[in-house]
Amino acid sequence: MKQAYVLGHHISHSKSPLIHRHWLEHTSIDGRYDVLDIAPEALADTMTALRQNKDFVGCNVTMPHKQKVMAYLDDIDETARAIGAVNTIYYEGEKLTGTNTDAYGFCANLKEHVEGARLQAAKKGVVHIIGAGGAARAVLYGLIQEGFRDFVIQNRTREKAEALAFSYEKDARFRVIDETVINPSSDVSLLINTSSLGMAGHPPLNSDLKGLDLRAIVIDIVYNPLYTKLLLQAQVRNLHSVTGIGMLLHQARPAFKHFFGIYPQADTKADHKLKELVLEK
Ligand code: ATR
Repeated sequence: MKQAYVLGHHISHSKSPLIHRHWLEHTSIDGRYDVLDIAPEALADTMTALRQNKDFVGCNVTMPHKQKVMAYLDDIDETARAIGAVNTIYYEGEKLTGTNTDAYGFCANLKEHVEGARLQAAKKGVVHIIGAGGAARAVLYGLIQEGFRDFVIQNRTREKAEALAFSYEKDARFRVIDETVINPSSDVSLLINTSSLGMAGHPPLNSDLKGLDLRAIVIDIVYNPLYTKLLLQAQVRNLHSVTGIGMLLHQARPAFKHFFGIYPQADTKADHKLKELVLEK
């Protein structure tokens, strides 16, 4: 039996088992996907035990292990190295390899919801990113790969935004701001929240979207709630908006393929059902 996990700590809320088990149920794969809740001090022993488990085919990695786990792998691919975090571990031949599918998930969701010519046009504008944590790093990496070149990073802690800009400064132009109010200017084509603000149990974003051009697209990677205050503000202004649930599904697809060898079906109707399932749990 092929055994995969999500490896993290305090992860009872993780949606990954729901998604992977749903795909397993719809294939004939003899596989399992379970939660592995591991404290940081037990990570080394856990990685040794996983290597010894002949059923183990790989795992997703989440907080707080996304960086520390790199020390226990045989190889880290270019994407994970550039993002500085691993969210998926799998066997490439004999080698336990780390990758990161978050940038892919973000961009796949964007392309699913924004038509090609419109996305192309958006590349001429400024991308305004809220937040400078691990999620922001993955989103930024993905957008640079897609050809976006002009960014504003807005973050409470200025130094973190500056560090993020610095690590990509050879690839794109950056401006950093640390104001608390989100007030995007008229040259912004994509406004993206990558921070935890607006998530259930967290304070809302303090945002005023009246400066945005009517062609601007507003994206939130938060999916609980699905329609954050930011997205509702965008809808009131008739701006195209993209919710965060699709990123969650899209980042899981290549991981499932790495673990179980089959790319999960990707049709709108099947995805809609799965999104409903994820959102109601
Ligand atoms: P992730 O890996 O999911 O991106 P993270 O690295 O903890 O998580 O980053 C969370 C982001 O949300 C950061 O940009 C953080 O801002 P700081 O860099 O200033 O910590 C932002 N964030 C979280 N809580 C916030 C709050 N109350 N006000 C403003 N920003 C907040």
